[in-house]
Amino acid sequence: MTARLDRDGRVATLTLDRPDKRNALNVEMSEAIAAALDEARREPCVLVVRSSTPGMFVAGADIADLAARTRVEALSRLNQELFLRIEEFPWPTVAAVDGPALGGGCELALACDFRVGTTRSRWGLPEVRLGIIPSAGGLWRLPRLVGWAAATDLIMTGRRIGAAEAREIGLLHRLCEPDELPATVDALLAELSAASLTAVSYAKEAMRAPADRGRIGDAALQALCFESAEARERLGAFLTRASGRR
Ligand code: COA
Repeated sequence: MTARLDRDGRVATLTLDRPDKRNALNVEMSEAIAAALDEARREPCVLVVRSSTPGMFVAGADIADLAARTRVEALSRLNQELFLRIEEFPWPTVAAVDGPALGGGCELALACDFRVGTTRSRWGLPEVRLGIIPSAGGLWRLPRLVGWAAATDLIMTGRRIGAAEAREIGLLHRLCEPDELPATVDALLAELSAASLTAVSYAKEAMRAPADRGRIGDAALQALCFESAEARERLGAFLTRASGRR
């Protein structure tokens, strides 16, 4: 199995495991990831995507597959759909990146809500250097995340950048040394554990809505929050604590 899911309480960990090909995404691996996502969605959880190999995240789509890809296969958008499912995962997603996250590997991380990278993480969309384009989400997620200028630089040159530059342009939420990656991810998970997963899920959904005005959807989700027992409890707990301090 090239991808597997483990669950520990509220955290589900998706581990990518095709070390001999540097986790290059072939059809089998994309299908294994899709199956793991289905499993993870069964119960509310924060999803962490990591590699089994230290110093290697994902080297991109499998170039051997790409070389044999027909027009019909390209139009089937296998990885585009896969990354959309990651983006639409109902609860927070975290990419834990140590080593290269290139091409499809970068696109996979871009589809996650959070990117935690080590100092040896490497980022890039080198597709144009192979005569193709990053059509599995890089073309629109990267500009959305880092702005048009930085995205143009990376997409049109296909150059790879290190962790410091990735952090500077806003690609990385947290940067750490390789041996600190598990602890840095745990610290983020601890921050997330303070939040209501339902409220986070609604916020994530509403953030993806296209318009900025008249967002009745936001108000509707907020109304659902106000009616939930969890929100009542959390609001009440704050007020009790506040009155205790007075
Ligand atoms: N697709 C298919 N196979 C890949 C691959 C990819 N994207 N990336 C690496 N591999 C394979 C290599 O062909 C090699 O296979 P082999 O042992 O059967 O010859 C094996 O993985 C190891 O690769 P190697 O280049 O020796 O590893 P490395 O640790 O020195 O370098 C990378 C790792 C990721 C920096 C380098 O492999 C690389 O640049 N890969 C291509 C990245 C890319 O262009 N991705 C975009 C694809 S759209």
